[in-house]
Amino acid sequence: MKYLSWDETLFRDAEVFDPEYLPDELIFRDQQLERISSNLKPALHNSRPINMLCLGPPGTGKTSCVKLIFKEIAEKVESIIPVYVNCQLVSSNHGIFARIFEKVYGYPLPSYGIPFPKLYASILKKLVEKEKVLIVALDDINLLFDDKVMNEAIYAILKAHEDVEKVKTGVIAIGTDLKFAAKLDSRVGSIFHPDEIYFPPYGVYELFEILKQRCEIGFYKGAIEDDVIEKVAELTFEAGDIRVGLYTLKMAGVEAERRGSRKIEIEDVLKVFEGSRKVFLRKCVAMLDETEKELLKLIYSSEELTTGELFEKFKEKRKLSYTKFYNLLTKLENLRAIDLVFKNLKKGRTRVVMKRFEDNVILDALREA
Ligand SMILES: Nc1ncnc2c1ncn2[C@@H]1O[C@H](COP(=O)(O)OP(=O)(O)OP(=O)(O)O)[C@@H](O)[C@H]1O
Ligand SMILES: [Mg+2]
Repeated sequence: MKYLSWDETLFRDAEVFDPEYLPDELIFRDQQLERISSNLKPALHNSRPINMLCLGPPGTGKTSCVKLIFKEIAEKVESIIPVYVNCQLVSSNHGIFARIFEKVYGYPLPSYGIPFPKLYASILKKLVEKEKVLIVALDDINLLFDDKVMNEAIYAILKAHEDVEKVKTGVIAIGTDLKFAAKLDSRVGSIFHPDEIYFPPYGVYELFEILKQRCEIGFYKGAIEDDVIEKVAELTFEAGDIRVGLYTLKMAGVEAERRGSRKIEIEDVLKVFEGSRKVFLRKCVAMLDETEKELLKLIYSSEELTTGELFEKFKEKRKLSYTKFYNLLTKLENLRAIDLVFKNLKKGRTRVVMKRFEDNVILDALREA
């Protein structure tokens, strides 16, 4: 072989740096993991579990904690069917229940259209038959198509026992939006009183420990020293998302290999960091739909505007209601592309759309996505 000599790789397992990788242990999250599992305990004895709302900024381990517990349930607990739904990938209540159907029945929903009431009834019937408790995690719930779908879904899952007495269900909602509770309508609010579990952002020290642990499984011994990981932790803290740090480590490893070095140096990190940050941003931008991209573009091609001013400008391009417009803005805020901040201006207290990046960084990402 001319270019690749496999025995000289620094990587023991490169996949551990991918964002989907689920570690066996999540450090600094004992409290949250214990809260989630104790809320689920009633389901071990065929009772209704306590509903939950996991909230916190991006990259704070919400998805990983719930997935880790679901993995354990799937392996060891007979009485519970855990269903994980990524709300970014579904756009309707029907879509959510199709995922539930698949887990409950063990095969996908037939592709011919089944009306919702029939789908719903068949899921409940099976749950009673199998005497199982259904627990649905609705992840990234703030990115769900709209608030109406969110309300419908939570309501449909939780009111199941009214339709069929023996059915037991629970919901774990996961999101980044602290104002989530305000979006629940009164009907849902009356049956959904979740235990709120907060995931605080990691400090530099915590980031260091998490990244170090990942390096120990991802790289061979001696491939990276603590001072280099410290540098990555500092840069990650500034960038605001641990995924940037994980990606930087991976790219720094590739860079060191390219130089033919057996060690990752700070120079490798500095060389790949900006690029890693941009790749990450491009991935975020690529997830947006056309309207969202257009709004983001308008924000980053304008001076700082109030939400009202931005709405007027955006209306010239797209016909939409203020509510729909505000939903789009909140989504961009949740993805950390912008901040919505209250300011005291001449005309009184108003919300202003603040940029989180240099204009050209976002405009480039939009062009390349
Ligand atoms: N405490 C931890 N220990 C080890 N790895 C962690 C920890 N917290 C987060 N990670 C890692 O960081 C990455 C992001 O975590 P995760 O997807 O769980 O965050 P999140 O809170 O769901 O973020 P988002 O709100 O953006 O969905 C994952 O690769 C995960 O393995
Ligand atoms: Mg998540």
